Amino acid sequence: MITEKMIPAFQKAEGGLFSSVEKADVGDAVVKLKERGVALMSWADPFYPDPSMPPHVAEAMIESIRSGFASHYTMPIGSGELKAEIAEKLKKVNGLTVVPDRNIIITPGSDSGLFFAMLPFIHEGDEVMIVDPSYPNNFQNTEIMGGVIVRIPVYAENGYQFNISDFEERLTKKTKMIVLTNPNNPTTTVYRREKLLELADFAVKNDLVVVVDQAFEQPVFDGIEMVTIAALPGMWERTVSVFSFSKGMGLSGLRVGYLVADDPIMDKLYGAAVSVVGATNTSAQVGAIAALRDDSFMGKYFECFDRRRRIVYDSLHDIPGVSMQLSESGFLSWVDVSGLGTESEVLAYLGEHALVSINSGAPYGEEGKGHIRIVHGVFSDNQVLEEAVGKMRKALFRLAKEKGLCE
Ligand SMILES: Cc1ncc(COP(=O)(O)O)c(C=O)c1O
Repeated sequence: MITEKMIPAFQKAEGGLFSSVEKADVGDAVVKLKERGVALMSWADPFYPDPSMPPHVAEAMIESIRSGFASHYTMPIGSGELKAEIAEKLKKVNGLTVVPDRNIIITPGSDSGLFFAMLPFIHEGDEVMIVDPSYPNNFQNTEIMGGVIVRIPVYAENGYQFNISDFEERLTKKTKMIVLTNPNNPTTTVYRREKLLELADFAVKNDLVVVVDQAFEQPVFDGIEMVTIAALPGMWERTVSVFSFSKGMGLSGLRVGYLVADDPIMDKLYGAAVSVVGATNTSAQVGAIAALRDDSFMGKYFECFDRRRRIVYDSLHDIPGVSMQLSESGFLSWVDVSGLGTESEVLAYLGEHALVSINSGAPYGEEGKGHIRIVHGVFSDNQVLEEAVGKMRKALFRLAKEKGLCE
């Protein structure tokens, strides 16, 4: 078998998140689900499958193609104009003051950015501390690079915030890095300032590298403060921050993300950027500039996602066998269904009786078992979402009845 020549992390790759849909054959599986009238609520893609690009972003991109500007690479590795806009945003939103050409690398989406952020640091056997549950790529990237995953479990009882003692207890001579998804996917948790200060202190004391993925930094609800860990004392020099236009701005199709770090790290990243991530699409970068210059459309998204997180919470939290918290950020809901069965049983039941496709919690880590993730940010029409959630409520009540949990 040719695959036996692969490294173990690839030998065990099975279509990742989509393996429960159909092995690596994502496109076809989606078509089949759509034909059955299944509502797809498993793509963390705002308003999917409906169009969501603001007209001024589309216009800028079209013009870049018409004028011929988009025929070529942006140099060096990312548009200087985009980096200047990003630097403004970093100052305003993240409290980071950076030199645009020095401290920012534009990446084709933040998935590749996340991989690139970790890659230079991880030697075989290095231990990487990762909150569990969190974004599956954190675990897979670590394994691909020959690192060792050290799981930091978080629980509903603490609002899914981490305890610093869990990091301290797992520290060894081999600990190299902390990878933090903040806000977290799937739990939507926004790590509080006091928690991040403790983590920063721990990282500084033990000379650890921090990779933080802030793809979901906007929107954050209920006035919760979104703290950029790289802006905390002692953190700038040891943190690589990963950002994206895909989530808060709903521009996933642009495939634009960016990395931010201090000069010594960046010099090395720039040295390898062409071979590891390559250039990002030129017209997409033009679109990203337009989105940053006029981001007023995000206000509408905030209202929409705020309303929808409440709809999902109000519809599901009181079902026997189900427990959940109101989402703190983004457009996801994280639901504990362990009182009703395994996550696969509940998914299959919902697929059949509510015609919805949602995510199993299992790929998000050990603590994801017994959970499901619902992407409530899909569809532009609220009513489509409300109907799908209504069907889920009915189906879960029915399942609870079958399990003898209610009349
Ligand atoms: C936490 C998190 N980070 C990063 C990404 C990657 O997004 P993109 O590559 O579109 O920027 C995702 C996508 O789902 C995500 O959930």
